[in-house]
Amino acid sequence: MAIPPRILLGVSGGIAAYKAPEMVRRWRERGAEVRCAMTDNARRFVSPLALEVVTGHRVYGEEYLKPQGSGVEEHIELTEWADRLVLAPATANLLALLARGLAPNFLTTLALAWDGPVVVAPAMHPRMWNHPATQENVALLRARGVTLVGPVVGPLASGEIGMGRMADPLAIVGAGLEMSGLEVRAGVGPADDKSSLVGRRVLVSAGPTREPLDPVRFLGNRSSGKMGFALAAEAAKRGAIVDLVSGPVSLEEPPGVRRTRVETALEMRTAMLDRVVDAEVVFMTAAVADYRPLRVASEKLKKETGPPTVELVENPDILVELSKAPGRRLIVGFAAETEDVLRHGQTKLERKGCDLLVVNDVSRADIGFDSDDNEVTVLAKGAPPVVISRRPKRELAAALLDLVESDLVERDVVERELSTETESEVGA
Ligand code: C5P
Repeated sequence: MAIPPRILLGVSGGIAAYKAPEMVRRWRERGAEVRCAMTDNARRFVSPLALEVVTGHRVYGEEYLKPQGSGVEEHIELTEWADRLVLAPATANLLALLARGLAPNFLTTLALAWDGPVVVAPAMHPRMWNHPATQENVALLRARGVTLVGPVVGPLASGEIGMGRMADPLAIVGAGLEMSGLEVRAGVGPADDKSSLVGRRVLVSAGPTREPLDPVRFLGNRSSGKMGFALAAEAAKRGAIVDLVSGPVSLEEPPGVRRTRVETALEMRTAMLDRVVDAEVVFMTAAVADYRPLRVASEKLKKETGPPTVELVENPDILVELSKAPGRRLIVGFAAETEDVLRHGQTKLERKGCDLLVVNDVSRADIGFDSDDNEVTVLAKGAPPVVISRRPKRELAAALLDLVESDLVERDVVERELSTETESEVGA
């Protein structure tokens, strides 16, 4: 029989601490053993007794900094017991202490004595998250091999909406089990119905388009399709019904995804417009050629006839058309920029009419086209930009879907509130 994972959950003082018992419960459902340590501030948000009941063990705090009779220091004993450390929620203060190796309390003392895998789920106000000091601390932790889960965009304790909300507890549970959050979702029943994408129709375009010049040549671009495929795979794992319209790429079809292959921008347009009516979320990830040759030679162009002059005509902008399609849905566009990335992104968001625009800087060799990693800034109308820091495209897809999910939940809430208001007005 496999040895159950032993998870040490460190809880610091953020409002999201109230989600700690739920995480413990999920881990225990999956066979893990869990112990908890908490800061004094965390005790103001969640009762140690609740954690004691769900873990079946005492909860560790400041009193354990003193040896408890056996002579062995508890923080050392605990590090020897556990095989992974999860810090959730992790406040800005905790991130700073971890990054700098400071240990003013039991939790940080324990973290300093720890040399195994660490998962950190930050939660804080967006201004604290975006502060250069926090970002520097996060970069230090990441460079040390710490796995960061979230934060995500969503409603915050302050009543605002922004980047700083703790990631979905299930994603943290997954990371704690050394699986991605979505593997946990796909793995067993009860978690599946947690995603707001279950049963929703998601339409994704991916890859480049090819605009033929003659029977053998085309105008194309460097898009690998990885980002779109990652989004399709992730959405499918979260229980969405996914349609993937892809240009020519050499990637394996994600399981559970219905794929349509296209070559040209015009073919992609037809495929997308055919499918958009039913879609509740659209990711227009494809790198569509802006222009196509006006004339396509029916025979291979011959070298002997000298260099051809190629006249180009503009392709329709599929994203603009999708944004205007009848019905309500969330439309996410992508933009690859090489300079003044944010300003161009904002202009594009307006021009394209989509709800979110995911902008990446393709002038950087380490991210973007054909790379396995990406870093993006997400722009939305009337909201501050959200940076999703550099990470593998699959993880980036998960972060984007978290963001979309919180947007969908918010829309549902607003819609429900509006319909109740209308009902009560009718009743009055
Ligand atoms: O204008 P630009 O090509 O930078 O815009 C990028 C976004 O617009 C992407 O989401 C891309 O899929 C979409 N696009 C489109 N049709 C085009 C060109 C771009 O849908 N002809």
